[in-house]
Amino acid sequence: MNIFLGITGASGAPYAARLLSSLTASGCEVGLCISSAGYEILATELYADPDMSRDLVRERFLEGQRGVTVYEPDDWRAPYASGSAKVDAYVVCPCSMGTAGTLASGTMSNLIHRAASVAIKEGRRLVLVPRETPLSSIHLETLLKLRQAGAVILFAAPGFYHGSESVDDLVNFVVARCLDQLGIENKLAPRWGQ
Ligand SMILES: Cc1cc2nc3c(=O)[nH]c(=O)nc-3n(C[C@H](O)[C@H](O)[C@H](O)COP(=O)(O)O)c2cc1C
Repeated sequence: MNIFLGITGASGAPYAARLLSSLTASGCEVGLCISSAGYEILATELYADPDMSRDLVRERFLEGQRGVTVYEPDDWRAPYASGSAKVDAYVVCPCSMGTAGTLASGTMSNLIHRAASVAIKEGRRLVLVPRETPLSSIHLETLLKLRQAGAVILFAAPGFYHGSESVDDLVNFVVARCLDQLGIENKLAPRWGQ
């Protein structure tokens, strides 16, 4: 499968890291785009150094990953900028409320916005993983608008009912739901009733 993965500046870098490694382990071809704030979040939450250079963040984040092509946020010539490219699904994880608001307004100032807008206009699978709390009425209206346009709103809200014992379990819970929505087989988290 060909998957577009956008990483934006909401808290939740461990979800993005687990999702990327799960996608590549499943043999997916991944087109990756990280926003400026997304780089800051990866640097802060994965490497405990908000000032880490983008090049180093990228190098460490992609260590050991196969089948990933990284695109700059302003690369409008990337295949994901066009509806004519063959893409199976799109996911923005984590998805900032800034990016969600931009998508809901129909404007686009980076490749992540453009790719997600393409997904919406082409009626393709788009999974957004927001993380914000509490939510204002503007946030709620934004998410409703995106849902009505066809996006799946998969909140970064792990469940505790599997007897999770670690942060890793909670990360797996959210990423497993995400992979399910993308149609990718996974055994990251136990399934209720099995
Ligand atoms: C450490 C840190 C944590 C943040 N956490 C969130 C968050 O959880 N949710 C959110 O919507 N924005 C969060 N933000 C704010 C976004 O990064 C900011 O709105 C940014 O403009 C989003 O840009 P982007 O959507 O292009 O990545 C955070 C910023 C920082 C520096």
